[in-house]
Amino acid sequence: MTETLNIKVTKATSSKLAGVDFDNLPFGKTFSDHMLTADYADGEWKNFEILPFGDIGLSPAISALHYGQAFFEGLKAYKHADGKISVFRPEKNAARFNKSAERLCMPALPEEFFIQSIAAIVDMDRNWVPTKENYTLYIRPFMFATDPYLGVAPSSTYKFMVLLGPTGPYFSKNLKVKIETEYTRASEGGFGFAKAAGNYGGSMLPAKKAMEQGFDQLIWTDAKTHEYVEEMGAANVMFVIDGKLVTPSTRDTILNGVTRESIIQLAKDFGMEVEERRVSVKEVLEAIANGACTDAFGAGTAATIAQVAEIVHEGKTYTLPNPSESVFAVKMRKALDDIKYGRVEDVKGWNFVV
Ligand code: PLP
Ligand code: COI
Repeated sequence: MTETLNIKVTKATSSKLAGVDFDNLPFGKTFSDHMLTADYADGEWKNFEILPFGDIGLSPAISALHYGQAFFEGLKAYKHADGKISVFRPEKNAARFNKSAERLCMPALPEEFFIQSIAAIVDMDRNWVPTKENYTLYIRPFMFATDPYLGVAPSSTYKFMVLLGPTGPYFSKNLKVKIETEYTRASEGGFGFAKAAGNYGGSMLPAKKAMEQGFDQLIWTDAKTHEYVEEMGAANVMFVIDGKLVTPSTRDTILNGVTRESIIQLAKDFGMEVEERRVSVKEVLEAIANGACTDAFGAGTAATIAQVAEIVHEGKTYTLPNPSESVFAVKMRKALDDIKYGRVEDVKGWNFVV
């Protein structure tokens, strides 16, 4: 039987909503009025609480800060034309949350607690879900270790929190990307499949260098040979080659994206052939050069479908056909948005209505 969470609620005395410019919402900078917190101690999750968004007091010795026992999730809430609010496939994030927890030696959070926490905090701040097309309420659940202990050992206490922030599109243009062949995001036996904070910390230097070289993003390749494509920034990477949807198969170096999986299902519904397999850099570049590759894009919750205009490898530029004329990416973005914003019947049951 599903256990119903008892969540203590302390309402903010005033709302920041009126001061928010909903036409200008860069990703991750604006937070809603409330947040959710819970504690893990003595082998159980307790103290689920919604309270005004604000700073939290923590010991400077917490092991999350020193040894990186910390991970997160990312999902979005959408407002439908009739005012209904839904969250896209939260059960997928709940399951992945616990995959991350397991790999980082952290406690599982029962999936129903994850879902009920998100439902409660989104409901509390439902006025924060933007109405404008392509704008959403980003939901950021996360967990971190709170033992004030400098020994390298799993913490015995943890915090689970959920923050909310209205946001516009993560990328506003088609991307110029480089194939990364020096740095690595994840290696075999590591934790690339987890949404571990450390994966993102380690990606910042290569991303900064790529931007200094004039790129918007980079495509990660495998750690051993740099011959196979893995992901693109903080998104999965997908291509249309010879009319087939081609994407690297998930493995322990690749995050199993909810967007990726949803696109694969919809592509199959469109009657398209889908290949999930190792994808070599050589294959992609040759396919662009000879016109067989018509689409390259990143797929993720924050990124949505982020189309690639140019890929650079070893100083040579490979230009995709005009991304704004791409039949696949445009059609797929619309198909996904139509479901998320409730414009078509949700036949797959992907929308969790709050
Ligand atoms: N890969 C990485 C490294 C990510 O950070 C993300 C973003 O969450 C994704 C892929 C895409 O996953 P999802 O579609 O579940 O957001
Ligand atoms: C997401 O798409 O939710 C992500 O986690 C990407 C983020 C690191 C910006």
